[in-house]
Amino acid sequence: MAAKKESLIARAGQMTTDGKSGVSGDWDANIHYQADDVAGRYDAERFSTLAGRVFNDRERRLVVGAFAGLSRGSRIADVPCGTGRLAEPLLAAGFRVHGMDISGQMLGVASRRLARFGATFTTEVADAKKLSAGAGTFDGVLCARVLMHFELPEQIEFLRGVAKLTRGIVVINHSYDSPFQRLRRKLKRLLGHQAPARHPISDRGIEALLEGAGLHEIRRVRLNRLVSEAVYITAVPNAPGVRA
Ligand SMILES: C[S@@+](CC[C@H](N)C(=O)[O-])C[C@H]1O[C@@H](n2cnc3c(N)ncnc32)[C@H](O)[C@@H]1O
Repeated sequence: MAAKKESLIARAGQMTTDGKSGVSGDWDANIHYQADDVAGRYDAERFSTLAGRVFNDRERRLVVGAFAGLSRGSRIADVPCGTGRLAEPLLAAGFRVHGMDISGQMLGVASRRLARFGATFTTEVADAKKLSAGAGTFDGVLCARVLMHFELPEQIEFLRGVAKLTRGIVVINHSYDSPFQRLRRKLKRLLGHQAPARHPISDRGIEALLEGAGLHEIRRVRLNRLVSEAVYITAVPNAPGVRA
């Protein structure tokens, strides 16, 4: 029973952002979600099965736990917010959430879904890579399910933008790369599956990513490490002039 549950969670955790087991060469996360049908199907495609629901529930609880050190009413930026999947439990936990995303279509879904939270949920269409300095007005920032779609330099650009929003914690979700995960990927390919994320990250990659974004790691949590690549890293800004 427990093994079956783990396998269900693994399947949901491995889904790519296009809801399939692989992505085509010209797929671009910056533009893919800027379509009404893609935004409208996002949650149903990934999180309506039993596996999806179980994984989603675990991820949502993990995210709330990551911000547990902040007091109720604290302001969290969710970048990218998408359909508000992870903003929802943060709002329910008493935080105020500002959802930012390059896709107005995804934010439209989020606004409808989270209307019951009134003014504690706000949205803004924005490109995370183009956020200006001095915008550090949030108590914490969440950056989930996006970095693994970009090459490392672009990941750094994205996270650097996100990190400008806070002097507090940055909670980052990524796909973890390790010899064990590479073996899993190989087996999956042999079985006819494609790699789940285009640019999973190794320990060295995490170091480079955080250093490039001016952050350092304070905590790392793996979500079902044997069956899923999902990793959550909590980081804080480096003191001025200090390299990681
Ligand atoms: C897979 S969704 C993840 C949404 C949400 N964080 C979640 O976990 O459900 C990826 C999101 O990244 C957004 N995105 C892609 N490029 C972006 C950029 N440059 N700036 C801001 N958002 C971006 C997309 O529009 C999409 O909503």
